[in-house]
Amino acid sequence: MFSISTFSTLLLGVFATASSLAQAQDVKSLLPLSTRGRDILDKNGNVFHFLATNWPGHQEAMIPEGLQHASVEDIVTWIPKFGLNSVRLCFAIEMVDDIFSNNPNQTLERTVINALGEKNGTKVLTDILKHNPQFSRNTTRLQVWDAVAKELAKQNVVVHLDNHVSKAFWCCGENDGNGWFGEQYFDIEKWKRGLSFMVKHAKENWPTFSSIGLRNELRQSSTAKEPVDWYTWYTHMTAAANSVHQANPDALIFFSGLSYDTYIDPIPLGKTLNGTTGTKSAGKTAVFKPDDFAWKNKIVLEIHKYDFEATQDNCDSFKKKWYANGFQAVDPKNRQTKYLFPLVISEWGFIRNGTYFKQTTYNNCTIEMVEDWQVSWMHWELSGSFYLQTRPGRTPRTIQGLEEFWGLLNYNWSAVRSPVTEENSLYKMIAALKK
Ligand SMILES: *[C@@H]1O[C@H](CO)[C@@H](O)[C@H](O)[C@H]1NC(C)=O
Ligand SMILES: *[C@@H]1O[C@H](CO)[C@@H](O)[C@H](O)[C@H]1NC(C)=O
Ligand SMILES: *[C@@H]1O[C@H](CO)[C@@H](O)[C@H](O)[C@H]1NC(C)=O
Ligand SMILES: *[C@@H]1O[C@H](CO)[C@@H](O)[C@H](O)[C@H]1NC(C)=O
Ligand SMILES: *[C@@H]1O[C@H](CO)[C@@H](O)[C@H](O)[C@H]1NC(C)=O
Ligand SMILES: *[C@@H]1O[C@H](CO)[C@@H](O)[C@H](O)[C@H]1NC(C)=O
Ligand SMILES: *[C@@H]1O[C@H](CO)[C@@H](O)[C@H](O)[C@H]1NC(C)=O
Repeated sequence: MFSISTFSTLLLGVFATASSLAQAQDVKSLLPLSTRGRDILDKNGNVFHFLATNWPGHQEAMIPEGLQHASVEDIVTWIPKFGLNSVRLCFAIEMVDDIFSNNPNQTLERTVINALGEKNGTKVLTDILKHNPQFSRNTTRLQVWDAVAKELAKQNVVVHLDNHVSKAFWCCGENDGNGWFGEQYFDIEKWKRGLSFMVKHAKENWPTFSSIGLRNELRQSSTAKEPVDWYTWYTHMTAAANSVHQANPDALIFFSGLSYDTYIDPIPLGKTLNGTTGTKSAGKTAVFKPDDFAWKNKIVLEIHKYDFEATQDNCDSFKKKWYANGFQAVDPKNRQTKYLFPLVISEWGFIRNGTYFKQTTYNNCTIEMVEDWQVSWMHWELSGSFYLQTRPGRTPRTIQGLEEFWGLLNYNWSAVRSPVTEENSLYKMIAALKK
């Protein structure tokens, strides 16, 4: 293991270009962002790339992870230290519902104890307050988020919000209630209200807030009231974008695709978005035309890529298959592309155990994809461990203090989990984006 100081030296030496890209300017002077064709532009008209990691705050406690191990300040410090310029903060709509209903369980004390039980919750609360003496047991969840956003601004980190779930727990499973419009926990009106609340709050309180993802990983559900199809996607996503834009006209709006956000090509290809025979969307169609919308220069498409099939494809084949799922959006030379949009790989990652990066071709080919197409990316994820994780379908269903072997940080959020992995993965992903 490198010590932290060795690690910083390494970063300075090898990644000076990427670091200066990330840190040279006061990022507030780059905001708001907008889009033109395939590019995200900063306020001065220069191309802007998100080089981000995910920092989840959408599980039961509904506050950003890790605060029982380290201070807000120390956690935020890791982001520029890794050479990143931005973060994707994942939140739950339930947190906003509780604000609207004035729920008494929003204090740090109640939220942690409700999530972890009286005994373990009290211990975790004590640890959070030990590392973060600026909080008290009465600090609300939103005040914790505000402290995180304020520190991110202080350390020059751009903030992207992601609506990860409605009901607060680990995402994502099929039929888990969070996956599709109108499913058990996915109340459409509360979702739009929650998005509007957060972007307005961010506009008023978070100096480096830039953008929001409307919904993470939409997916099939047999229990959803709404048909699962592109027409239904169009209806609800454009309505949500209207709400967001009205509440905060500066924010970029990220649109994720279907099947866990693994494909979004019908949008750049300008395909007819169809309803489903035998449902209320039967015979209905729409086309997503940017010119139809007041927020036409705020649209960003997002796509996720993991390695569940442990791919051994050579990179030509890997890239060709992946391209077909949405990279037409960033390819002005493709004659089938109807509309250009920026595309962001808003989740990618794998176990940081020192060997996985070379066990399949995923790592190398993902780096090549970023080199080829110059698209922003957001690594999954920063966390070395979670307050707790509930995953329907797993035994045990809930695990407290679960280690996250995919995290950039170790269990205690005190060091880089796998420096050799980052030399071969994260830092090469940074280097792949040339300014
Ligand atoms: C607050 O949490 C307690 C459990 O600690 C629960 O019984 C109560 O229903 C919650 N209140 C609301 C309004 O959700
Ligand atoms: C927390 O709130 C309770 C009830 O309102 C109050 O009695 C207590 O003094 C507060 N504690 C702190 C540390 O602010
Ligand atoms: C919608 O249906 C039309 C006509 O069958 C088809 O050409 C088009 O590809 C479909 N759209 C999508 C997104 O599959
Ligand atoms: C890393 O994880 C992969 C996938 O689970 C496994 O095959 C490999 O043996 C692990 N490496 C180490 C050093 O544990
Ligand atoms: C990945 O790329 C590196 C550097 O080009 C190469 O040495 C390595 O063999 C590649 N790994 C895999 C699994 O293809
Ligand atoms: C409470 O914490 C202890 C010690 O970390 C752990 O063994 C136990 O499983 C936790 N309780 C629950 C309900 O998860
Ligand atoms: C992480 O925390 C655990 C529990 O407090 C402790 O036993 C362990 O020594 C810590 N590890 C490091 C690397 O700090």
